Amino acid sequence: MFRILVTDDIAKSGIEVLEGVPDVQVDVQTNLSETELLEAIAEADALVVRSQTMVNEAVIAAGKRLKVIGRAGVGVDNIDLEAATKQGVLVINAPDGNTIAAAEHTFAMMISLARHIPAANRDLLGGKWNRKRWVGVELRGKTLAVLGMGRIGTEVAKRAKVFGMQVLGFDPFLTEERANSLGVVKASIDEAVAGADFITVHTPLTKETHHLIGRERLSLVKPTVRIVNCARGGIIDEQALCEALAEERVAGAALDVFESEPLLEDHPLRQFENVILTPHLGASTVEAQENVAIQVAEQVIHVLMDEPFEHA
Ligand code: NAD
Ligand code: MLT
Repeated sequence: MFRILVTDDIAKSGIEVLEGVPDVQVDVQTNLSETELLEAIAEADALVVRSQTMVNEAVIAAGKRLKVIGRAGVGVDNIDLEAATKQGVLVINAPDGNTIAAAEHTFAMMISLARHIPAANRDLLGGKWNRKRWVGVELRGKTLAVLGMGRIGTEVAKRAKVFGMQVLGFDPFLTEERANSLGVVKASIDEAVAGADFITVHTPLTKETHHLIGRERLSLVKPTVRIVNCARGGIIDEQALCEALAEERVAGAALDVFESEPLLEDHPLRQFENVILTPHLGASTVEAQENVAIQVAEQVIHVLMDEPFEHA
């Protein structure tokens, strides 16, 4: 009998995949304290999480029978990969189940910024009818810098082309050939940032990408630039961004992810009318949640059954 512990909310369809396998017992326990998690994991052969559960060294060490950790999503930054590797525990993710959801959320953010949709909505609900105040800009003819041309960055770039935008792509692995085939101009990060009307980041958060958009890069941008982060908090230096917004060196920002989540009630980002904030909703579509839950459940079962698996 294999015990699978699920500690974050994942779509029912993923749970059904796990429950449909003979000799598997599924234990869904969400919102556990660290002590409760340490206790629950002791008997588990597999752990399935989203981004809320912090799978640190102590949690992995307490998982005496643990063979695999499945992440229903892309980023594995809530899992201590080094500790898992040391203990011989596999970490697998669902790398493409939420790509379209995240790309569409990015686009929703860009359009919302361009047309002031959240601010105009707030204004109208507050009793005002301000047609002059909320004049926006078009995407057509504007330049979009995509930093990180992986799965999501590529989907964003494709959509931007359809909207008539020029796309500057920055990614150490972006070849000239691939850029040409997408109609994207390969650029250095500074060229991309300085030439952009919109900037969107789609990298993982690593030592290299931490504060990729920081004080120095923000000194290169056009004052009309609008910046989007639907990737990971920390890729943009929030303090430097707030300074740039306050000094009107940036025209707006839309952020789905933050250096610390949930975003604090008194966070300075909340003060700007031209900033749009969503609570890490990039992957929050019915379709994406089903995709990642099913993908990760199937892979976890493959690992437990010693069958070939993907995404480790
Ligand atoms: P991916 O692995 O397909 O693409 C990431 C790309 O970033 C790769 O092409 C890689 O070469 C590039 N990259 C790495 N380091 C770089 C650097 N220093 N400079 C420039 N490019 C660099 O990943 P993806 O599926 O496209 O996801 C991108 C990000 O979006 C991840 O951080 C992921 O966790 C996040 N994400 C967020 C949400 C959300 O809910 N907001 C949803 C899905 C994914
Ligand atoms: C991801 O990395 O997949 C996203 O941040 C979405 C999530 O946390 O589920």
